[in-house]
Amino acid sequence: MATIDWAAERERALAETRAPSFPPTVKLPALPQAVARFAEISRRPDASLGELARIVESDSSLMLDVLRYVNSSYVGLRHRVASVLQAIGLLGLKRATSLVVASGLEAAARARQMKLVNQQVFWRSCLEKAIFAREVARLWGADADAAFAGGLLQDFLLPVLSDQLAGQYVIYLEAARRGAGAGSQTPASSGGASLALRAGVADTNPTRQRGDKGCRLVDFEAARFGWNHAVAAGWLVHSWKLPDELVCCLVFHHQWSRVIADPTLGRTSAAAVAISALLPDPLLQEPQGVANLKALSERRSEIDLERLVGGIDDECDRLGMDAGRVASLAQRCHLAGTREHLPDEQATHHVSAG
Ligand SMILES: [Fe+2]
Repeated sequence: MATIDWAAERERALAETRAPSFPPTVKLPALPQAVARFAEISRRPDASLGELARIVESDSSLMLDVLRYVNSSYVGLRHRVASVLQAIGLLGLKRATSLVVASGLEAAARARQMKLVNQQVFWRSCLEKAIFAREVARLWGADADAAFAGGLLQDFLLPVLSDQLAGQYVIYLEAARRGAGAGSQTPASSGGASLALRAGVADTNPTRQRGDKGCRLVDFEAARFGWNHAVAAGWLVHSWKLPDELVCCLVFHHQWSRVIADPTLGRTSAAAVAISALLPDPLLQEPQGVANLKALSERRSEIDLERLVGGIDDECDRLGMDAGRVASLAQRCHLAGTREHLPDEQATHHVSAG
């Protein structure tokens, strides 16, 4: 696969948007210091593996998270790895950086409580998307580790945003559960697309362009706040100087139809992450996601939805990730495909819009 100039793609992605201006009440997660230092040193041409390993080892919880990831089926190494130095040596710098960023940032985001949805269910859905993105990236010969990291982190701001702006997010969630489309609850219900564009957020959803009723979470956010969680996450991760490929995966994650048609990005980690964002999740981000995934899999023979989804459920089972009272991904996809929305009462909490 041709080498992608991710710095140029990141510049292009951010040039189309504005840096979000958050309400003063929103306290964003902090990047763990060791992750920031690792990312900074790894960019240097003379970076030594020993120095990078010592940075990870300086943060005991990060070290444990990294070793847990390296030895899990996500990475697929044949032999058990006992030290961070060994892990970095085996994986190489690029893979190791994806892994350190994913494990450190996920742990920081996981530490935040969630009012609106069951936290365990939310993070299981993030893992499902990460595995899906990794498998699609493998099929395309794209960077599977970058796709996994992007898939896992695509919604890392939602725990904070849906908690601290819960009154707004509950309006979306209740409308999405009713299947009315949250656009009907916004001040400019019929103007979701134009509002999104005015806010500097590319509106490329073919579903709404066909005039269907379902409004997506990113459009609701753009209309309410002037930004959405995808663009906000991209800007934040860029401000932390994390890899440009990750910035692109985050910014584009709700622009699947545009990204897969893009001559440069079409078969990259960013496209794999954007397709993974169509999977069902407890915040009902993409009301038409499964229908769009099914339509895509009919056009693209390599996207065998049934096989991919079955593989994700198997992998989650092998990892001992109990879905609890929530249905398997295969069941949720089936239900979402037949009823457009799955009002999953087990996965959501009831919070008044106030
Ligand atoms: Fe998202």
